[in-house]
Amino acid sequence: MLRPVTLYCGDYPTSRFENLFCIGSAIDCSPHLGRVQDLKRALISDIHGNLEALRVVLDDICDQDISEIVCLGDIVGYGPNPCECLDEIMQRCDGRCILGNHDQAALFDPDGFNPVALRAVYWTREQLDTGHGGRNRVVARWDFLGELPRMLIPDDDDLLFVHGSPREPTNEYVFPEDIYNHRKMDTLFGLISKYCFQGHTHIPGIFTSQMEFVTPEDCGYRYQLRDEKTMINVGSVGQPRDNDPRCCYVILDGDWVIFRRLEYPIDVVRNKIYAVDSLDNMLGDRLLAGR
Ligand SMILES: [Fe+2]
Repeated sequence: MLRPVTLYCGDYPTSRFENLFCIGSAIDCSPHLGRVQDLKRALISDIHGNLEALRVVLDDICDQDISEIVCLGDIVGYGPNPCECLDEIMQRCDGRCILGNHDQAALFDPDGFNPVALRAVYWTREQLDTGHGGRNRVVARWDFLGELPRMLIPDDDDLLFVHGSPREPTNEYVFPEDIYNHRKMDTLFGLISKYCFQGHTHIPGIFTSQMEFVTPEDCGYRYQLRDEKTMINVGSVGQPRDNDPRCCYVILDGDWVIFRRLEYPIDVVRNKIYAVDSLDNMLGDRLLAGR
């Protein structure tokens, strides 16, 4: 069972949706007793409207005896199938999904987006407003996005789920090179009780309390969590940026973090992107390179 965390409600623009969870940067991560429970979870993030990648991941999850799927945000943005991806996530992750910065950009005025991303945001909005399934389906998708919390804390675990970082759950990036920024990392580790799972950079790996960054390759795609604070980036389903074009997600099984990398029909997605004027061709090209 996961609970959304509402810590602060400021002057958030709620013109479109009045029931958006508004959460600030101060986090009460009360320490929980006990270790990571036996629940076997799949953690997916940064799908970005890539339906072919999402379907491959969901099929793989079906074969892994998973208890629940948690989505760490950015369901839409960049990719050609925002409505279809939303429909899948609404069905598989209802109550276990977080708002990503691109989901937020679809809802409200986008901030800090480059021109390519901005055009994709406006096209995505159009799809969400006119998508298939009739008016009720359109409203259901907007409602789902508008009700997403910015973080989740399972009741029974030392876990925190965010899109960006424990300090700024939606927008702050934690890059591998941040291990050299001890002030930043100390602050972030100070905000979590034990294990924080996140996405946003599209670069999978483990941040240890010893200021190391362990890539999936470094640990043979399996990392055993120790009794110390750790941040885990689960990578991206739909737009990996670690020079490995295969989609990525994580299975949390006891205290093991397992990175799954899967091939998917990239050319199908590229051609869909090339066919949409508002989606820059580079959004298709980058999928091939995984960056
Ligand atoms: Fe993203």
